[in-house]
This record gives sequence, C-alpha cells and structure tokens, in this order.
Amino acid sequence: MLEPPFVDRDRELRALENLVTSYRPLPIYLYGPEGCGKSRLLREFVTRSRGRSDVIALYVDFSGYDARRAVDLDSILRSSLVSHNRFISAFLDTIRSLNMSLNYEDVLSVSLSFLADIAARAMTREEVRGKGLILVYDDLTRGVGDLRTLANILKSLYNYIQEAPPRYGLGFLNVVVTTSEGTSLREVSRHTYVSRPMLVWNLSKDSFEDLFRRLNPPESVSFSDTWRLLGGNPRKLWELVKMYSWDLESMTRDHYDRVRRIVRRAVNMGLGDLLRRAAMDIAYLDEAKGSDVEALIDFLVEENMIIELGLTIYGDRVEQDLEIGVGRYYAWQIPMYRELVLKTLSSSL
Ligand SMILES: Nc1ncnc2c1ncn2[C@@H]1O[C@H](COP(=O)(O)OP(=O)(O)O)[C@@H](O)[C@H]1O
Ligand SMILES: [Mg+2]
Repeated sequence: MLEPPFVDRDRELRALENLVTSYRPLPIYLYGPEGCGKSRLLREFVTRSRGRSDVIALYVDFSGYDARRAVDLDSILRSSLVSHNRFISAFLDTIRSLNMSLNYEDVLSVSLSFLADIAARAMTREEVRGKGLILVYDDLTRGVGDLRTLANILKSLYNYIQEAPPRYGLGFLNVVVTTSEGTSLREVSRHTYVSRPMLVWNLSKDSFEDLFRRLNPPESVSFSDTWRLLGGNPRKLWELVKMYSWDLESMTRDHYDRVRRIVRRAVNMGLGDLLRRAAMDIAYLDEAKGSDVEALIDFLVEENMIIELGLTIYGDRVEQDLEIGVGRYYAWQIPMYRELVLKTLSSSL
C-alpha cells in the first residue's frame, strides 16, 4: 500500500466544492499542520471533479520544487494531476513547445500565472467557454521560499483571477494555495488580495479511529495511546505503520532529538518556564500576556511546533481538546511534541 485508504473529509470536500465551483474574487489560502491531509484532500477533490462538465481542475505539487533553480517544468508537470486527460496532454505539449530555458527566479510570480495562461490556451476557446478553471497550487510556500516573493505571487494571482476569465471566455478562475508553514501565514493574513487563511485540521477522533482500525493494528497497540500521541494526524499514523511497525515508543524516541534542540534554544532565550506552562496546558498561550509570551509563540510557530488556529475551511473553530494540546487559538502540531517538551525540561537537557 502506497497510501492509506481514504477516510472521512465529507465536510471538507463539501466546503471545498462550495468554495471553488463558483466565482471567487480572491485566491483561497489553505493551511494546516504538516501531514494533516491537505494534499490528499485536494487530490481527492480534483479526482472527484473529473466527472463534472462545468469545471476543469488542475493540481500542481510544489513541495519538491526549488525556486532558486530555473523552473523545472518537467518535475512540476510530472506531479500534476488533472481532471481531464486530454487537457493535460495539450497542456504538456504547449509547455514543451515553448522551450523554456529561461531562468525564472525573478519572474516566478509571473510564471505561475503563465502556467494558468497556458492551461487556458491549451483548450480551444470553444472547449473552455463558460467553464470554471480551478488551479490548486499545493505547498506553494515551501516551493517559493521567501515571503516577499510569495506576496508578489499572491498579488499576481489575484490580478490574474480578474483578467483571465474574460480573455479566455472562462466562467471563472479559482486558485487554491496551501501551506503547512506558520510564518508565511502572518505575511499572508496582512494582505487583502487573498482570502482569510482557512484551516484544514487533523482527522476527528472517530475518523482517526476508523483509519487506525483499517490499518490492522496489532493487539498490543491501543487506540487511546495512539490518539494521545498523534492526535488525529494521518501522516504520523502512516509513519507509525510504515517506518516504525507500530512501535510508538521508538517513534517517540526518534522525535526526541529535534524537540530537545528546540527546547534548548527556548531555554537559552529565557523562555523555559513559559514553555513548561504551555506544554502543561496549551490554554496558557491563549490567555497569558506579555512580550515573553509573544516571543515564545513566535518561536514555536516558526519551528512548526504549534500552529495558530483560525476558522476552518467550513467556517467553524476546531473543537478544543486540551488532552491532545488543542486550545482555542493555539494547538501543538502533534501532541507528542508537548510530552517530549515536558520530558526534556525535566531532564538535564
Ligand atoms: N482522509 C485521509 N484518509 C486516509 N489517509 C489520509 C487522509 N488524509 C491524509 N492521509 C494520508 O496521510 C499522509 C499525509 O497526508 P498529506 O495530504 O500529504 O498531508 P499534508 O499535505 O497536510 O502535509 C498521506 O500518506 C495521506 O495519504
Ligand atoms: Mg501537502
């Protein structure tokens, strides 16, 4: 099995469908913890839209993409998943025929719109007339690297959403951009040319248990321990199966070094005590005030240890669950981290 069987996500799929199958003035920005299932959700969405005649959806994976090199279109395109086969082959042919040997470092923001441009042009006008084009740029932040370029890209995508539909006779053009990375979120939230960042969260306890059971756990592994440490994160569950053969202890041990380094840095910044409180109770970060608390939050967000909780893609808040480190405004990305933080702080570092 290369991937676990797909579970749940009914609400998210419905919300996505509502979001992207009609005109939206702004690019849609999705974020969520690493491994919570953003890419899988979007690929599932694109695959399901295959049967529709009113939209064309294109998925481009930017996670392995290096903006510092000239754009490697082949690797971008190899990882594209498109809902219309004929569409993708036209798309590929057009791009190849352009013989793109340019270095796109400085014009990356243009090049993304350019991809969309080619996509629209690859169809004849008759074929696209009135249809919606949905472009999913997954993990764009990681691909792009720096925040200034990201802001430029989002701006140009915003302009493009307005310009492209009349030019190609499209019904509308929607762009979905994702990230798991906390720092960019703040940069993005400051701008008016993207949607409010929308949160995709880990699986609910029931769905996580469903997935857990379907993966045939050995009897010695309890669901409650798995939930307490992994808190609904499907990537971590899959790692537990594939890399650790269900051995939660060795998995936890393997995460210890990374957490220990982060804790050491926090302690050296004079934030050890606050960190202990946050690890004991994430709600502490929701309530406490002061520049030290702000510094700790910034640090933990930057290290992808905690994540800021905004409204989800379907407009709700994630349910608080202090046992797995989910507060009102902040959550540990993986509950295992907070156990490891406490363990590190009580040892000698
Ligand atoms: N709803 C789901 N059901 C089953 N497996 C899932 C689900 N969502 C994600 N996964 C699996 O979890 C892992 C991480 O998911 P991914 O979508 O790559 O996370 P993200 O993009 O948020 O980092 C992948 O192996 C994926 O197949
Ligand atoms: Mg992803």
